[in-house]
Amino acid sequence: MQITFDYSNMMAEQVGTAHGITAAELVELQEVTRTIHAQIMARRERGELPFFDLPFDAAIVAEMQQLAAHVRSTFDTLVVLGIGGSALGTTAVYSALGAAQKGSSGATGSSRLIVLDNVDPDGFTARLAQCDPARTCFAVISKSGSTVETNCQFLVARKWVEDAVGSRFREHFIMVTDPETGLLRDLVRREGYRSCSIPPGVGGRFSVFTAVGLLPLACAGVDIAALLKGAADFAPRVCHDELESNPAYLNAALQFLAYNKGLTISVMMPYSDRLRDLGDWFRQLWAESLGKRFGTDGRELYVGPTPVNALGATDQHSQVQLYVEGPFDKVVTFIAVDDFAHEQVIPAYEAFPEASYLAGHTMGELLRTEQQATAAALTKHRRPNCTLHVDRVTPESVGALIYLFEVQTLFAGALFGVDPLDQPGVEEGKLLTYALMGRSGYEERRRDHEASLGRRHARVLKC
Ligand code: PA5
Repeated sequence: MQITFDYSNMMAEQVGTAHGITAAELVELQEVTRTIHAQIMARRERGELPFFDLPFDAAIVAEMQQLAAHVRSTFDTLVVLGIGGSALGTTAVYSALGAAQKGSSGATGSSRLIVLDNVDPDGFTARLAQCDPARTCFAVISKSGSTVETNCQFLVARKWVEDAVGSRFREHFIMVTDPETGLLRDLVRREGYRSCSIPPGVGGRFSVFTAVGLLPLACAGVDIAALLKGAADFAPRVCHDELESNPAYLNAALQFLAYNKGLTISVMMPYSDRLRDLGDWFRQLWAESLGKRFGTDGRELYVGPTPVNALGATDQHSQVQLYVEGPFDKVVTFIAVDDFAHEQVIPAYEAFPEASYLAGHTMGELLRTEQQATAAALTKHRRPNCTLHVDRVTPESVGALIYLFEVQTLFAGALFGVDPLDQPGVEEGKLLTYALMGRSGYEERRRDHEASLGRRHARVLKC
């Protein structure tokens, strides 16, 4: 597995001093890097950052493979019910590896995997309609156990299964939740559902290497041992304090410096359909971890880069005009793949001589060339950009990329002065939803909200 990080086009000598990063700025951050790294490692030692050690947990692989073998032998479909960090990592890895990996982990057939991460009744109904309740297993994934969307999905799915199979419905559900606390854990204790634990201290968006991601991925035939091995083998490259040779710290530092020069939008643009959903996963990781009102010192900061996803080459015909000529507010991170699992040689066609320049080249070559051309165009227009080159999309390289981005986010949190592991901003809406849906204990909040609506001067246009 080979990953390289080309950040030449982030630098002032390529894109100018207004938005480019200078070598001196990186040198200046070296001492800060040593301090932050020491703090991170001290926290890791104290067990406060358990996500760091997940790739080294051989026991979880055996446990998940055993449970997955049961699921695969009993059901033909595994449906994930979960949202945010309980769903995005699974989707990202499955999109990257699912099709390519099917059956290669020694599995005797693999389950179809469906990830349901919304409570849109149209979408939910349509996906259930594709499943046979007697042959479907649900992984109900929620760290807190109280997430309204996941609980809603579970209640609907449980009834749907019970209507079809009767009192044996419990066998169709696996709860993935906190080992001790939360509503789902209580339900497991009361009703005897099969369950897996999410290690305490591992938050949703950092949990893809726990049962949250590994159970569904193992069911789907992804080689989860290789996924974790890729992350574990890569760990030494991102767990040291030399800024210029640590790609996770370096990219965090570049993004941080660029943010401070007004480039507050961070675009991730894989040139690979298989890596498209990795961009979605990263968007949540970056946004929820870094977008904060308060710093760790209690100061009001209102800080955080805005992550945006794009797909090469598709979005060259949608977004790139804006990236090249719009406001100077973006940094683009490309992910480029050297070798694709499949290739298409572009054939000649005598009746279409105007396109003959393509003949004999490959589709992969065209995609790689387009990435290079877009990077060059951005650079020419003084737009900072960098490229992560991945030799091939494999379980190992995907595991390494995930680990890299997790460490990058943790380090970026320290640079921005925020706690990347919390998400206080999503609480308000969550609690109000409970209140408005009639959850007991939230009556006062509901009354306050209704009173505020009464005071509001409504401006609603009938169209
Ligand atoms: O990253 C996070 O912590 C969140 O996105 C959560 O994963 C999401 O809110 C779902 O929470 P839970 O797993 O508690 O249902």
